[in-house]
Amino acid sequence: MEAVRRECSCIVAEYQSKRHVLEPSRGMFDFEGMDRLVAFAHKNKMKFRGHTLVWHAANPAWLVAELNDVPKEGGLTEYIAKVVGRYRGRVHSWDVVNEAINPADGRSDGLRESIWLKAFGTSYIDMAFHAAHEADPNASLVYNDYNTEGVWKYGDAWRSSTIEMLAGMKARGVPIHAYGMQAHLDPNDRPIDPKVLANFLQEIKDLGLRIQVTELDVRDFKLGRSVEEKNRIAAETTKLFLDVVLSLSVTDEILTWGLSDKYSWLNDSKNAPFYGGIPSPLPLDWKMVRKPMWYAIAKSIAVKTK
Ligand code: G3I
Repeated sequence: MEAVRRECSCIVAEYQSKRHVLEPSRGMFDFEGMDRLVAFAHKNKMKFRGHTLVWHAANPAWLVAELNDVPKEGGLTEYIAKVVGRYRGRVHSWDVVNEAINPADGRSDGLRESIWLKAFGTSYIDMAFHAAHEADPNASLVYNDYNTEGVWKYGDAWRSSTIEMLAGMKARGVPIHAYGMQAHLDPNDRPIDPKVLANFLQEIKDLGLRIQVTELDVRDFKLGRSVEEKNRIAAETTKLFLDVVLSLSVTDEILTWGLSDKYSWLNDSKNAPFYGGIPSPLPLDWKMVRKPMWYAIAKSIAVKTK
């Protein structure tokens, strides 16, 4: 808590504002966790990001069943109206739709074959943004995704499908304000090419969208041998990435996905053994001490705001 108070001017719930927590059974809401975090943010003069209203994961079983059986549009729009309405004026930006793109699913538009797409077709995305805007006209509405930061097998397709989808939304007058780059950086398998990244972000900017960095961390399990080397590479990767993003001058906030290595999702059983190490993906170490990555973020921001 002290580290968050010291380091953060904006926070996001890693878990507590997802649908399976907020609506565990149809029509039964549990806002306790999110209320607590929103209250903490405001008490400490921090902003609060809402993550996320529509996602293919973290849905309660009843909703998955309903969407697969007899989908009701209310299951999408009424939920958004209720949740965004409750926090109107207290949540400054919402990840309205998360991870709607996946070219590996083979569709020509590159959209993910999710339960939402199967239930409502491609219009679920527009429906979600219109519902969120109606519930809080002043909230910044974000499309959030990953896999567009680096060079890898599906990188180009992910970026082009993202631009195509966002351009279509803008052309239809959908109320979308920003592209959220999760930024789970992976210098080993998905290295950053500054030109490729800058071109992609310029296309986003040319659509009149802001760019938010929403879940920054650096996978480093496979990098280097010593802790020092891993931290050096993680810092270099972070600076390389942020220097490009901030050069576009349309980024309002940078959030990491967790603050200390101690609580990173990358520690969890599924990830760590696969990568064979104790991850150090975040700006603070287990003792909340600032690491090279923290200084890389600070330098990147300082240069930009000079
Ligand atoms: O807190 C409960 C605990 O009470 C229970 O005993 C335990 C049993 O499974 O579950 C615990 O909740 C877990 C929660 O993390 C808190 O640790 C959930 O199972 C687990 O599914 C949940 O995982 C989160 C995941 O999203 C799914 O919601 C991760 O923390 C979170 O880091 C991850 O975040 C995602 C972003 O939302 C989207 N971008 C990718 C990112 C990483 O996958």
